[in-house]
Amino acid sequence: MAKIILFGVLDTAELAHFYLTHDSEHEVAAFTVNREYLKDESFKGLPVVAFEDVETLFPPSDYQFFAPMTGRNMNRNREKVYLDAKAKGYTFISYISSKATHFGNEIGENCFILEDNTIQPFTTIGNNVVLWSGNHIGHHGRIDDHVFFTSHVVMSGHCHIGSYSFFGVNSTIRDYLTVAEGTLLGMASALYKDSDPWGVYIGNPPKKLGKPSYETY
Ligand SMILES: CC(C)(COP(=O)(O)OP(=O)(O)OC[C@H]1O[C@@H](n2cnc3c(N)ncnc32)[C@H](O)[C@@H]1OP(=O)(O)O)[C@@H](O)C(=O)NCCC(=O)NCCS
Repeated sequence: MAKIILFGVLDTAELAHFYLTHDSEHEVAAFTVNREYLKDESFKGLPVVAFEDVETLFPPSDYQFFAPMTGRNMNRNREKVYLDAKAKGYTFISYISSKATHFGNEIGENCFILEDNTIQPFTTIGNNVVLWSGNHIGHHGRIDDHVFFTSHVVMSGHCHIGSYSFFGVNSTIRDYLTVAEGTLLGMASALYKDSDPWGVYIGNPPKKLGKPSYETY
């Protein structure tokens, strides 16, 4: 059981508080946000403190950190908070729903893995990865750091997913693909071939959009 500092006070943090409270051995001790967003002193009956001061008030020797944020800015906002908290000396938990199916897969830190995900054997997951609900994560695959799967994505077997990639709801990735760093696959879209770094793909068959993904998500 760890005492947890949760980053954020919006929907994702509220959900993380719910999941950790109802479906983990951990106890949320406080919330933290950047000082410029600090409005209320408490949330869910717990203190909210400035991220700038958090290590003084809740030292990394006594508390672990969890930053389950959205994929905004192609996961780089989430990466920044993760790295900043790491630089303060925190270690991280990962939350893996008791209603997810997995097989002792290697899963990194600060991952947020919700209900009804199936992670098949021999697939590894890096740090700071979100699997929202209901994804199929096929066998013999690899997911690098800072990746976001929304819901009901099918990642077929033997795929390698590059860092910062984002998969819209109901998207599909063919088996044996290498998905390059920063790929954005739109909702209900399908990837048939390896993607280009920071490419945005929509539709089925997919069309590559001409603008970089950080401008669209
Ligand atoms: C790919 C995506 C990021 C593009 O967003 P955008 O840059 O704002 O693009 P727009 O909505 O302006 O659409 C641009 C064009 O692409 C089309 N388009 C957008 N997404 C599409 C998709 N997934 N499949 C097919 N066509 C799509 C639009 O109809 C539009 O066509 P038009 O120019 O002929 O009118 C977005 O549509 C998407 O799929 N986001 C993921 C949503 C999601 O899964 N959310 C879950 C949140 S947890």
